[in-house]
Amino acid sequence: MKATAVANANMALVKYWGKRDAKLNLPTNGSISMTWDGIQTVTTVEFSDRYSEDSILVNDEELKKDEKDVLGHVERIRQIAGIGEKAKIVSEANFPVAAGLASSASGLAALTVAAAEAAGLKMTEKQLTMLARQGSGSASRSISEGFVEWYRGEKADGSDSYAKSIAPRAHWPEFRMITTILSGKKKPISSRAGMAQTVATSPYYDGWLRTIDEDLKKVRQGIEKKDFDLVGSIAEANCLKMHATMFTTKPAIIYWIPATVEIIHAVRELRDSGTPCYFTMDAGPNVKVMCLEKNEASINKHFLSLEGVQKTMSCGPGGGAKLVNKHLF
Ligand code: PMV
Repeated sequence: MKATAVANANMALVKYWGKRDAKLNLPTNGSISMTWDGIQTVTTVEFSDRYSEDSILVNDEELKKDEKDVLGHVERIRQIAGIGEKAKIVSEANFPVAAGLASSASGLAALTVAAAEAAGLKMTEKQLTMLARQGSGSASRSISEGFVEWYRGEKADGSDSYAKSIAPRAHWPEFRMITTILSGKKKPISSRAGMAQTVATSPYYDGWLRTIDEDLKKVRQGIEKKDFDLVGSIAEANCLKMHATMFTTKPAIIYWIPATVEIIHAVRELRDSGTPCYFTMDAGPNVKVMCLEKNEASINKHFLSLEGVQKTMSCGPGGGAKLVNKHLF
């Protein structure tokens, strides 16, 4: 009853921001992401009657009580499998967690795949995306490879809200996302709480929802045709729209720090001077710069030289979550 899985993080090009059902984690809108190559979490789960309670160690630190809703996901998997044994979970991420770096996506995806296997569940990729979704919405997209769409679905039971690869990594291996790490600090408000507050109080939220289908359509088309300017421009505008709904929430949610604004301007200046690049951000201060492989080295060098950038991480489209043989304990 022990298994280990590895899952990459993913970054949304069209964002998920808001739930139509908080218990089942059903989104108010569909989203499309790119699974990142090598920015990942490895997780080992063991269910055993040797353990008197569940424990979870992330990057050598015991998870704090307020972060333990992850254990609710373990309980969900235990119930589906009809087992009672407690779990020991050890997880290692190769990037700062809880700073808007899609840590919940790769963490919950790796946990889902490892725990389902350790509990003896045999699930299809589609079923795993729906199970991961219940742990963290964005995790549903980290199960699959390359460019991934998570469907909003219409049904109240969530059976049509799953994620699926819409293009494999080999379709567009030149696409790059460079993450500028500006702050490794924990974010001021979790995305879960932030999106609930936004749906409840932002007067801009209806505007956000009205434009999503068009954004999804254009990004799907852009990926299919490998049209970098189309994908980049829609993704950048979509991210700004999401942050506009956050800014207009009561009380306002502002994940940005001064260096965030500096990087945004730097991307626009580079673009104006003829280097194709666009930015996106999640619920955190770090800016991700989208570009093509041929411009990756020079763009990376440029951002590393800016004040406020601690480091950068660059990657192309990556593979889906998978089981591995090497356990962490
Ligand atoms: O699923 P969560 O709780 O990690 O929320 C993700 C929300 C965003 O990262 C801001 C957008 C997205 O689609 O990943």
